[in-house]
Amino acid sequence: MLHGQFADVSLIRQHIGLLKSAPTRDLIIGILLETYHFVRLSTRHIGAAINSAEDDFAAGLLSRYLTEEYSHYSLIATCLRKLGLAEEHIVTAHPLIGTASLVSMFSDVARSSTLGYLCCLNLIEMRSEDLAEAEDAWVDIARKANLPPDTFSGLLQHMQTDVNSGHSDLLETWLQEIRILPPRVHTRR
Ligand SMILES: [Fe+2]
Repeated sequence: MLHGQFADVSLIRQHIGLLKSAPTRDLIIGILLETYHFVRLSTRHIGAAINSAEDDFAAGLLSRYLTEEYSHYSLIATCLRKLGLAEEHIVTAHPLIGTASLVSMFSDVARSSTLGYLCCLNLIEMRSEDLAEAEDAWVDIARKANLPPDTFSGLLQHMQTDVNSGHSDLLETWLQEIRILPPRVHTRR
């Protein structure tokens, strides 16, 4: 029900669209390195969201999300290694300002609104109905860039794991539990 409202601004769709038009090795590494940083730094905004959760159900939901998500950056790192990036470059790299700003924005939203934060997660988490299309797109990107077919297997494993865990359903799960919007959502300006 809620997914269609976010489909046009999905970050995953934007990345795939960019790479399909220009699948150069440098662009692929750049996008995957920023994805690696964004996933690695997710503990910051998830932790903030747990700390500011507006009810116990949300705190539990987000705590489970943290335990499932915190180590997923290692799956992205396997793709970077297959692309030839040295281990010391991966572990010492710094995120671009845009990536750091996105993490900071997620953290700010997490501290101010559980509803807002769960809406943000809807923008970044893979949806089950989009998974097959995304898998085909990454196979196509590998072919166009003359890379081995399994180059992005870690990324695809991440997507599949997140779908299996229901990460794109966190907002809907929470709304079904609380049944009504929190009062302050209606009054905050
Ligand atoms: Fe994940």
